[in-house]
Amino acid sequence: MLQNREKWGSKLGFILAAAGSAVGLGNIWKFPYIAGENGGAAFVFVYLICIAIIGFPVLISEILIGRTTQKNPVGAFAMLTNSKLWVSVGFLGVIAGFMILSFYSVIGGWTIGYVIETLRGSLSNFHSPEEAGVLFSALSGSATWTIGYHTIFFGLTMFIVMRGVQGGIEKSSKIMMPVLLIILIILMMRGITLEGASRGLAFLWVPDWSKINGQSILIALGHAFFTLSLGMGAMLTYGSYMSKKDSVVNAAAQVVFLDTLIALMAGVAIFTAVFASGLDPAAGPGLIFQTLPAVFASMTGGTFFALLFFLLLAIAALTSAISLLEVVVAYFVDEKAWSRKRAVLIFGGLIYILGIPSALSFNLMSDVTFYDKTFFDIVDFLASNVLLPFGGLMIAIFVGWIWLRSEVMIAVKTGAESFFNAYPWFEGLWFIFLRFIAPVLITLVLLNSLGIV
Ligand code: PHE
Repeated sequence: MLQNREKWGSKLGFILAAAGSAVGLGNIWKFPYIAGENGGAAFVFVYLICIAIIGFPVLISEILIGRTTQKNPVGAFAMLTNSKLWVSVGFLGVIAGFMILSFYSVIGGWTIGYVIETLRGSLSNFHSPEEAGVLFSALSGSATWTIGYHTIFFGLTMFIVMRGVQGGIEKSSKIMMPVLLIILIILMMRGITLEGASRGLAFLWVPDWSKINGQSILIALGHAFFTLSLGMGAMLTYGSYMSKKDSVVNAAAQVVFLDTLIALMAGVAIFTAVFASGLDPAAGPGLIFQTLPAVFASMTGGTFFALLFFLLLAIAALTSAISLLEVVVAYFVDEKAWSRKRAVLIFGGLIYILGIPSALSFNLMSDVTFYDKTFFDIVDFLASNVLLPFGGLMIAIFVGWIWLRSEVMIAVKTGAESFFNAYPWFEGLWFIFLRFIAPVLITLVLLNSLGIV
């Protein structure tokens, strides 16, 4: 069976697909608003440190587990350990993929919905974020609108994954990622050339340290996981289609670089525009759907830029969603010998159904809450704030402590001999981060999510 397993066509194919997974709503919707709420530049700085000392070492580990075993998260741990405990870690990843995709597709649907609304001209007459807010409430308040676009977004995701690793995921990423980059460059140029843009740039580059506290550090760290798609086996699964000729360290570095670059570019595009219009950078989750439409309405050619922006969001969300579905599909294809098509239809279908109460959380079911959280909030919280950090913690512990170090080094040096010859100190540093720094910091994030610290 192993010889028939699918593979990326090239190293670039892996990089674009993995960067596609990493770059998503997290970069363009979430990062700008949490940076805005937590004081801008100082937060960005803390975030960059988290990416470097936790995100990067854990990303190498996750891709490495996949590349070495050439299996899905469950099969990978089973092959390396034979222990039920670790196999269940892999299984939790599959469950996290299931959960994240169900609500991610709802927001992904909104982005397509906003592309359509822009084309219909609904966004062109706003004078204030409040007016844009009224439209947003009306749209998200409609069960037909939210479920309808969830269906379209999910349908696209299933369509791509069904076409396979090379023919679907790799091929679509090779088209969508360059388009995404070009759109982002255009939007950034537009932002920088607006009058008053410098205040937006200052917000991102001039730190105000008084805004940094324990809470914002934990938010930055938690986001480092989400944005790099860590802790649930997405990178592991993508790594499992990677060739042993390529360097995992180098690939991980490129993914981190692209993900970070794109988050920062999105920050520049968004904050220059928000500040130029004199609006509030700390508007929270509505920054993209309420503040930005008002910004676009006030600029020349605004409809065109709004269209580009929501297209950008939709592409980013789609390339992430396919990686989430692929984790679940890979499990059934590898472990249960299902056909790809069957796995996509049956499990895709179930995830789609689980997404419906999330879509309804903004309308018909908005009053159904548990500890003040809607269904959407609960699934998001459990997956993003509990399962991802937990998965990341386990991966760091596994590669740092459980997997024999000599075997880890053989695996990681495969395809990267020259790198390890040139930088022999890298091994020691990587292990210090995996063994001590990552576990301690991730445990803090977890305890914080659970309300303990
Ligand atoms: N990294 C994606 C984003 O930033 C989200 C994601 C998380 C995708 C986990 C896959 C796995 O939007």
